[in-house]
Amino acid sequence: MTAVDPNLHALDLLAGVETGFALSVLDSSPDCIKLIEVDGRVSFMNSNGMCAMEIADFGMIEDRPWPALWPAESHRLLDDAMAAARDGRVSTFEAFCPTARGTPRWWHVTVSPVRGPRGHVERILASSRDITDSVTARKLLEEQARALAQEVALKDAALARQKVLLGEIDHRVKNSFASVIALLRMQSRVHSGGEAGALLGDAANRIATLARVHDQLHLDPGADELPLMDYVRVLAMDLGQALNGRIELDLNGDRPVPVKPAQAAAIGQILAELIGNAVKHGGANRQAMIRIRLDCPDDRLRLTVEDDGPGLPEGFDAAQGTGLGMQICQVYTAQMDGLFRHGRSDLGGALFRVELRLDPVEGDTARDVGELGRRGTSVRAGD
Ligand SMILES: Nc1ncnc2c1ncn2[C@@H]1O[C@H](COP(=O)(O)OP(=O)(O)OP(=O)(O)O)[C@@H](O)[C@H]1O
Ligand SMILES: [Mg+2]
Repeated sequence: MTAVDPNLHALDLLAGVETGFALSVLDSSPDCIKLIEVDGRVSFMNSNGMCAMEIADFGMIEDRPWPALWPAESHRLLDDAMAAARDGRVSTFEAFCPTARGTPRWWHVTVSPVRGPRGHVERILASSRDITDSVTARKLLEEQARALAQEVALKDAALARQKVLLGEIDHRVKNSFASVIALLRMQSRVHSGGEAGALLGDAANRIATLARVHDQLHLDPGADELPLMDYVRVLAMDLGQALNGRIELDLNGDRPVPVKPAQAAAIGQILAELIGNAVKHGGANRQAMIRIRLDCPDDRLRLTVEDDGPGLPEGFDAAQGTGLGMQICQVYTAQMDGLFRHGRSDLGGALFRVELRLDPVEGDTARDVGELGRRGTSVRAGD
């Protein structure tokens, strides 16, 4: 069985009523339908088209060249589409054309050949659909995307500038640390042998420690948090090497535990004082063995530093001494609402432990500080 061309079948059905059919198609179409002579003159426009183009009287456009109704920048598109139709091809384009009253409108235009009984192209049919709403929405979206991309580019540039600036500041801070340390060491040498010389040497060492904490903190100047375990590992090994202590690390878990730089700085400072003390008081005339344990259950941190020295003096009270080390540890721990405890290590020497919440959330501290609020209590090695 040969397939029947549906269009020919429709023509069969319409035999005798072609005119009525053509008129109802023209009337029912919401598009602007025009018949154009092969030389480009407009000879017909349907009533919905007149309405869409806000043309009150067809006489205004009758016999005028079709491109003359469009802005000059679209003429090329129209000429090409008419040439294609004369060649028997259908083509489409999108273009802007205001109505007769100047209302801005975007159109999707389909241009097709109209053939006579002998198959020759006798006229051109142009059907224009009003796509102003979708073009406006698309343009708005494009505009927003462009604005967003511009904003992102500006922010990226600002971030890049900030990174360079932070790097520059970091560099200057390092230089300043180095100058101060060199100056103090020079002064210490001038007063060598006396109490002033020792104090100046201590000050130089403390600033060198500060510089080490700073170095670790600013490996990535733009970062707004850093991995605590890595930070403690590198800082502890670095300090152990610088102060000649034997460090044994016990970092519990592979979790990255991100912390804010301010909190990392405080933890680094406490760690540096405790390692310094272990070497200074626990390792006179020998290399101290220092065990550092760190674990972070939930959002808490527990840092323990112990050594194999002689242990803390009888009746030791961290809050009573005149040394700076204990003061620094206590001040930083208090700032972070933590607990600072001391005791005897099963290595034989002193044991210090800091427990605190990592980056306490505002309004949540009262409940969780609880036990941590009691500071300066003593602790046993196994606790
Ligand atoms: N690991 C330790 N082993 C034994 N004793 C310690 C240890 N850590 C601290 N102490 C004792 O606690 C005291 C106070 O320590 P702190 O760090 O406050 O002062 P410092 O080390 O004497 O001086 P500074 O820290 O100001 O240089 C020390 O003088 C020492 O008696
Ligand atoms: Mg000390």
